[in-house]
Amino acid sequence: MNQDQLKQAVAQAAVDYILPHLERNSVIGVGTGSTANYFIDALARHTFDFDGAVASSEATAQRLKDHGIAVYDLNSVGELEFYVDGADEANDRLELIKGGGAALTREKIVAAVAKTFVCIADASKRVPVLGGFPLPVEVIPMARSHVARQLVRLGGDPVYRQGVVTDNGNVILDVHNLHITDAAKLEADINAIVGVVTNGLFAARPADVLLLGTATGVQILK
Ligand code: 5RP
Repeated sequence: MNQDQLKQAVAQAAVDYILPHLERNSVIGVGTGSTANYFIDALARHTFDFDGAVASSEATAQRLKDHGIAVYDLNSVGELEFYVDGADEANDRLELIKGGGAALTREKIVAAVAKTFVCIADASKRVPVLGGFPLPVEVIPMARSHVARQLVRLGGDPVYRQGVVTDNGNVILDVHNLHITDAAKLEADINAIVGVVTNGLFAARPADVLLLGTATGVQILK
């Protein structure tokens, strides 16, 4: 199986995982990226089993609507049973790097609200130590240089993601050459820099379940 087929397999596995728990009034948090897109496509076959979704990006909102799935503002939803999203890296503690698609802030907000965060990823995303994938940091535009200098002090090599503006009107710095052994501390340290909106480490709120697509089938890691 190639990487796309593995992504499709975990997307279907996520639908199978959450479906027995859904009720007609359930609202599902939905992430962003190619794996999340496969999830949306698979979920669309079950529109009568739930009410709608909260989207972690404008792109996801559009894809959900294209499938006829109702999209709700997070503020109008009391509770989310599940958040389903991909990742750029995942370690054995189910701590993640996310934000390759620049949607990290909304992803983190929806994940914070959900009772269960189901992460879906192909096997290439599983790593012993986070940091091989450059860590995305969403930054208020006027603070870009200031934040970049502070990130260098923390040991990283930030690179401005040219031409990208987030759904929130901000910019992204991708921090290279980090070897992240204490993800929760680094997440907090970066978030404490003035001008940072959020960073792509999901350690304070890691995934609860990782559905990992491998050549021999989908593994469920908790
Ligand atoms: C978007 C994300 C994605 O979940 C992450 O980049 C993985 O993407 P893909 O499923 O396309 O490999 O965090 O901001």
